[in-house]
Amino acid sequence: MLAPRLRARQSPDRWAHTCTAGPPATRRRRESGDWPAGLASVHTGEVTTPALRWLDPPAGPAVELLDQTRLPAEEVVVTCAGVPALIAAIQRLAIRGAPMLGVAGAFGVALAAARGEDVARAAADLAAARPTAVNLAWGVQRGYRAWQQAAAGPQNRAGRHDRGGRQEPAGRQDRARPQVPGAQRAADAALAQAREIAADDARASAAMAAAGLALVPAQARILTHCNTGALVSAGEGTAFAVILAAHRAGRLARLWVDETRPLLQGARLTAWEAQRAGLPHAVLADGAAGSLMAAGQVDLVIIGADRIAADGSVANKVGSYSLAVLARHHGVPFVVAAPVSTIDPATPGGAAITVEQRPAGEVTSLAGRPVAPAGSPAYNPAFDVTPPELITALVTERGVTRPVNAAALRALAGGRDGAEGPLKAVHMELWGA
Ligand code: MRU
Repeated sequence: MLAPRLRARQSPDRWAHTCTAGPPATRRRRESGDWPAGLASVHTGEVTTPALRWLDPPAGPAVELLDQTRLPAEEVVVTCAGVPALIAAIQRLAIRGAPMLGVAGAFGVALAAARGEDVARAAADLAAARPTAVNLAWGVQRGYRAWQQAAAGPQNRAGRHDRGGRQEPAGRQDRARPQVPGAQRAADAALAQAREIAADDARASAAMAAAGLALVPAQARILTHCNTGALVSAGEGTAFAVILAAHRAGRLARLWVDETRPLLQGARLTAWEAQRAGLPHAVLADGAAGSLMAAGQVDLVIIGADRIAADGSVANKVGSYSLAVLARHHGVPFVVAAPVSTIDPATPGGAAITVEQRPAGEVTSLAGRPVAPAGSPAYNPAFDVTPPELITALVTERGVTRPVNAAALRALAGGRDGAEGPLKAVHMELWGA
């Protein structure tokens, strides 16, 4: 959970955690940045907010985000009233992390539909906002498909199913349900799909926590990289959910938090979540992980994933591969936790994963201040790829998989919705490629 003040609300409008106490946002102000059209408002307050939530009219339709670039210093809520604002938020990492990108992508499609915009164009733009985390295109595709099927109209109505999965006779459907205009029906379907993705993600998170706990020894000193908690999930996250489960089971002696240069998702976000959850933790420079392992201070490394290729290669935040090599050298188990939606059977291996390259300034500056001579070029891949042979086990909502290899991945991804490769499918539908 983000904070003790949070609880899951029952309201269907708020699928995740939401604030239950404390004053509402007291200071409201417009940011003077280069916000794209569609950004309704930005406000700061003492509220603790969920990473993402949907706003219905009259406040919406809009998607509200906790701006992760501002944490831990302040909790700023950004309201994206249009898809361009949501895409900008994704690209500047105001909202980030693979599972949450899937959720955001689906809500983005719902937003376009609710605003009566070009949903196909919005879906394509959303799916292309960041290239590595497959969940983004997967979530977009699911939302887009739901919208498309509902928009198809009469033939879709004839295929309706009741809650038990039985097909309803068309006559009964028409008597039982008020007639909803087609565009509204399609927008409702996209929104329902987005909420379902969020609910599934929360369930997956809980299942990963339960499964991954079996891999955590007593008095474990766990090292993690980047940020994998409630900020990236509709639940408690991926790797961080396992860590939380270990803490609750009394098995966590210490969480080692890699700072995760260049954007410090570890120091800023994981340490923030760890502190709120009362975890014994310490932040370290990424370069200190080797000597820490050499000193016998790490019992387990556990990280998340942005895309898992068909052969089991894992793309995750840059620095993950170095940790895997170190872990192998020091005989420390190296575990990846990710929902099945992160597996991409359409990507055959690590070399086929597109690694996002980000601006040089993220490396040549630190917290907005230049640290390299002006004009220094930089190498700034956002992710790296760890080959399956360095991965001890993969934790998904379907359990623990080991060894990690193509056969295991095939079995895992078999029942995955959209297993044919979401990004390509979206593009094929839109441009007939
Ligand atoms: O660039 P980011 O911050 O979106 O990268 C996020 C990561 O690499 C996470 O470790 C990964 O998405 C797993 S999140 C459960």
